[in-house]
Amino acid sequence: MLFDSHAHISDEKFDNDREEVINRAKENGVKLIMNPGVDLESSKKAVDLSEKYEMIYAAVGFHPHEAKYMDDTMLLLIKALAKNKKVKAIGEIGLDYYYDHSPRDIQKECFIKQIRLAKELKLPIIIHDRDANQDTIDILKEENTFETGVLLHCYSGSVELAKEYINLGAYISLAGPVTFKNAKKPKEVAKYVPIDKILIETDSPYLSPEPKRGTRNESSNVEYVCNQIAILKDLSFDAVAKATYDNAKRFFKIN
Ligand code: NI
Repeated sequence: MLFDSHAHISDEKFDNDREEVINRAKENGVKLIMNPGVDLESSKKAVDLSEKYEMIYAAVGFHPHEAKYMDDTMLLLIKALAKNKKVKAIGEIGLDYYYDHSPRDIQKECFIKQIRLAKELKLPIIIHDRDANQDTIDILKEENTFETGVLLHCYSGSVELAKEYINLGAYISLAGPVTFKNAKKPKEVAKYVPIDKILIETDSPYLSPEPKRGTRNESSNVEYVCNQIAILKDLSFDAVAKATYDNAKRFFKIN
């Protein structure tokens, strides 16, 4: 029983074999998948896919890379999509100062507008933060976001920051990097974060975990993330699978 809390299954890399990818996930124990949008088009696709497959839920929103393309009309269209009953979050949204595909002031503005939308709709948010730790947490605090739910997706920050987030009531999601041999930080974070606050994800088609590193990632690989956390926390695979499944359902308010 696994919940892949972040899989871009609408991505064009799955256009030729999406059905098979979904079936492989099912055969590998994946019961539920959260599919986040990165812009208007992918958010629409995420909603369509969630209507086609019971096991797939959707999040809608503009990724920081795409922030420069979001105008007020698009935000209204995101809002309309968010009213679909399979949409369980606004995401993925946040800041990316590593690639800086959109100017930082635009990224912040786009992030804040979507936080306010999420609060209005009482939906939790899925956060993308790359090399923007301080501005991300500052905005989340200023906007008083933690009551409606904050999930740090593919968390790559320090244990200290994780501690601060946990104290604020956020959830932390770990992906492929926790399985990488040289990745110290995510391993420390996996050990630290309480078992009732961790989610697992693939972030597919990106970031394949060991031993699949270098190939296209897919939801069936979420088991490797689960297994690595079980080892690090000295728990059984089933215990981590169940806890992360329950956590994701609680976070996304899925009954
Ligand atoms: Ni993503």
